[in-house]
Amino acid sequence: MTDKRKITIFDTTLRDGEQSPGCSMNLEEKLQVAQALVELGVDVIEAGFPIASPGDFEAVRQVATKIKGATICGLARSHNDDIDRAWEALQHAEDPRIHVFLATSAIHREFKLNMSEDEIIGRAVEGVERAKGYCSNVEFSPEDAARTEVDFLCHVIEAVIHAGATTVNIPDTVGYATPEQMGAVIKSLVDRVPNIDKAVISVHCHNDLGLAVANSLSAVQNGAGQIECTINGLGERAGNCALEEVVMAMRTRPDYYTGDTNINTERLVPTSRLVSEITGMHVQRNKAIVGRNAFAHEAGIHQDGMLKHRTTYEIMRPQDVGFAATDLVLGKHSGRAALADRAKQLGYELNPEQLKSVFKEFKKLADQKKDISNEDIASLIDKELVGSAG
Ligand code: KIV
Ligand code: ZN
Repeated sequence: MTDKRKITIFDTTLRDGEQSPGCSMNLEEKLQVAQALVELGVDVIEAGFPIASPGDFEAVRQVATKIKGATICGLARSHNDDIDRAWEALQHAEDPRIHVFLATSAIHREFKLNMSEDEIIGRAVEGVERAKGYCSNVEFSPEDAARTEVDFLCHVIEAVIHAGATTVNIPDTVGYATPEQMGAVIKSLVDRVPNIDKAVISVHCHNDLGLAVANSLSAVQNGAGQIECTINGLGERAGNCALEEVVMAMRTRPDYYTGDTNINTERLVPTSRLVSEITGMHVQRNKAIVGRNAFAHEAGIHQDGMLKHRTTYEIMRPQDVGFAATDLVLGKHSGRAALADRAKQLGYELNPEQLKSVFKEFKKLADQKKDISNEDIASLIDKELVGSAG
């Protein structure tokens, strides 16, 4: 970690994550998730969008008042009322941040806002200045930045930094960017915005093309110092960059990635489970890092390799992300080595003949049954032992 750039982890599970259809959380649940995020080691918690509803306001206010150990952030459009309301909710936080956003792409300027480029810059600067009147820690997001003309984006970023923004976030609002493009946008800001050294560049990628994590990593490789992400990749439509994936990519490939984070990775699985239980958003079995199959092996060749040396088929230790152990699943693809290993764990010592015979019966059962339990294995072995004794 020493020679790595420290990348700020900005978690927006409680704001963008909660915007996923069906993912609303009540106040108590939000406080529970916020506390879990602190224990996970996130640097910034975006607790909500205070002007959106009285419930959202109250949740941000309570998170800001009760949760210590992370920066607490609230979202606001670049309007006075939004910013005032955000500050009302955040003012008692240990370390508050106001996050102001305004769309900048031609599509949004023309069809949504009906504003000129100059009007956008003026409104963005006014928003940042108003937020700055309340709090020193101000983030600005040009919504739909990844589809904004790069020249215009550079002007907007320069203007909001001049107005006092301390973090400038580059959202790929519709998940349209590619890793190379996202990297090039960040590099353009680093190379062309004269005051860029006065702010941290952040990235906020949506996952519509399944590229949110790759795009975020590419941004970091090109100079971004903050990643916005969510637990289990929750968020609008196909979701946001998954915190667990982006963090473990940097932790597992320090030879390649230049950044690392303060995340306590052993808290990833417990936090993922908490968020899944609270939101009712099931985590797919093969989800990277936190899915039930992420460290499970069923194929005989893989199981044999794993029993000889774990690194043959695992690039991370399950314990490092919060799983108890690797799972050598017994199923129709499993081999004799895994069966012998399981028999031993269950307290049986089988000779080669007994193992051969139990293995034959096990394969027959596995053709009929998807999940083979320890009880099934014990019963097969008991039958064999009774048979061979008789
Ligand atoms: O996706 C987006 O553009 C956002 C902004 C409000 C940062 O969520
Ligand atoms: Zn978003």
